[in-house]
Amino acid sequence: MKVKIRGKRKLEGTVQISGAKNSAVAIIPAAILADEDVIIRNIPNIDDVNTLISIMREMGYIIHFDNNILIVKAKKKVNYYVQSELVNKLRGSYYFMGSLLGKIKRVKINNSGGCNLGNRPINYHLNNFQNLGAKLILNDQEVYLRATKLKGCEIHLDFPSVGATINTMLAAVKAKGITTINNAAIEPEISDVGNFLISMGAIIEGLGTPTIKITGVKYLHSTDYTIIADRIEAGTYLILGAMSEGSGIRIENVNPSYLIALTDLLSEIGCTLKIYENAIFIKRENPLKPFHIITKPYPGFPTDLGQPLSSLMLTITGESTITETIFSNRFSHIKELKKTGADVEIIENCIHIRGPANLHSEKLFAYDLRGAAALILAATLNRGITQIENIETLLRGYEYPIEKFQKLGLNITLFE
Ligand code: EPU
Repeated sequence: MKVKIRGKRKLEGTVQISGAKNSAVAIIPAAILADEDVIIRNIPNIDDVNTLISIMREMGYIIHFDNNILIVKAKKKVNYYVQSELVNKLRGSYYFMGSLLGKIKRVKINNSGGCNLGNRPINYHLNNFQNLGAKLILNDQEVYLRATKLKGCEIHLDFPSVGATINTMLAAVKAKGITTINNAAIEPEISDVGNFLISMGAIIEGLGTPTIKITGVKYLHSTDYTIIADRIEAGTYLILGAMSEGSGIRIENVNPSYLIALTDLLSEIGCTLKIYENAIFIKRENPLKPFHIITKPYPGFPTDLGQPLSSLMLTITGESTITETIFSNRFSHIKELKKTGADVEIIENCIHIRGPANLHSEKLFAYDLRGAAALILAATLNRGITQIENIETLLRGYEYPIEKFQKLGLNITLFE
C-alpha cells in the first residue's frame, strides 16, 4: 500500500489518541495467564494487534475484538507450541514465551520479527527464564523452553530492557516464591502490563521503579482493564503541531506526565504549549531554535520519537542532531529524506540535519514504523506530491492514521 500526500503547512485541529501499542502487544499475550475470561479496553485497532489476535485464534483461543474492546475467553487446555507463521511478523510475539512459560511451564515458538532496527538479541529474556528454572533449547528458527517448576529468584538486567522486564514479569507471576528484577525498565507500558496482572490478582510491587518484586500466585481471576494511551502516537502528532503553521493542534486522551521529555523540549525550542489534565495543545511560533537530543530509556528522550523529530528539524534554521543510543540502526528514513533534497547525514550513531529544507516531490519507501511516520511529517512540508510506499509499516502501529491526518487538514490518500 502507498500514500500520496500534497503537503500543506497549515494543519490544525484535534486528535484523539488511541491505546498504547506497546502495552497492547504485551497485554494480549499476557491474557493467556488468566484462569478466567478477561476484558481489555482501549486496545488500538492496528495491524500488530490483529496479528496477535490471529495467532491466538490459531492457538484455539476464542477472542472477540470490537470497538477497541478485546475479550479473551480462558482456555482449559493450552498448547505449548506456537506454530503460527505470523509470529515473525512482529516483535511482541516474544511475549508468548513469558506467558506460556508462566501458564504451563513450557513453550516452543518461532523467532519473532519486528522492525529492523539493527541487531535485536533476546539474551536477557532467555537468561532470566533460565534463572527461573527453565531449560532452553535454541536453534536458528525456534526457541524451546521447559521447566518442571519455576522458582522465584534474584535477577539483574545489564540494561533496562523493556521486553526483558515484561517477559520476566510474565514468567514470574505464577512462579513459586519471590522474583526481584533489578535494573528493570520503567517505561509506562511496563507499569501498564503490571497493573493488568495486578487487576487479576498478581502480587507485584515497585512498578515504575528499577526494582520490581513479584510474589508468585497460583490463580489469576477475571478482570476488566483499560490500557493507557499511546505516548508515542501522541508525541508524533505533537511534533506535527510543532511543524505546522496552522492555529495549533490539540491532542486528547493522553497522560501528559508520560510526555515530559518531549513537551519540555518543544517549549524550550520556542513552541507554545498548554498542558491540561488529559490533553495537550501545541502551536508553532517562528522561529524555532535548533536542538540536540540523545535517546535514552524512560524518562529520557524516547528512541521511538527520534525519527519523527528529524522531520521537525527540517523546518529549523541551523544544525540539529539526534544521537541514537538504544538501537544500532534507527536511520532508515534518512536516505529517503535525502532523496527529497534534505541536508541530512549520519555520522556514527548521530543524525545531523541542517534546515530549513526545501523539499521536492519524490517516491519514498517506508522501511519501519516510526520511519514511516517521519516521512509523512516531512511530506507535509512539500507543496507538491510525495508518494510513500510500504505504508503497511505505519499501519502496524498507528490507529486510523490516514483519517487522523485528514482531519487535521492534510491532503493524504491511501491506495494499493
Ligand atoms: N537488548 C539486548 N538483549 C535483550 C534485550 C534487549 O541486548 O535481551 C538490547 C536491544 O538490542 C536494544 C536495547 O537492549 O539495543 C533496548 O531494547 P529493549 O528490550 O528495551 O526494546 P524492545 O523491548 O525490543 C521496546 C518497544 C520498542 C521501543 C523499545 C525502547 C515493543 C514491542 N517494542 O522494544 O518500540 O523502541 O522498547 O523503548 O514494546 C516502536 O514502537 O517503534 C518500537 C520499536
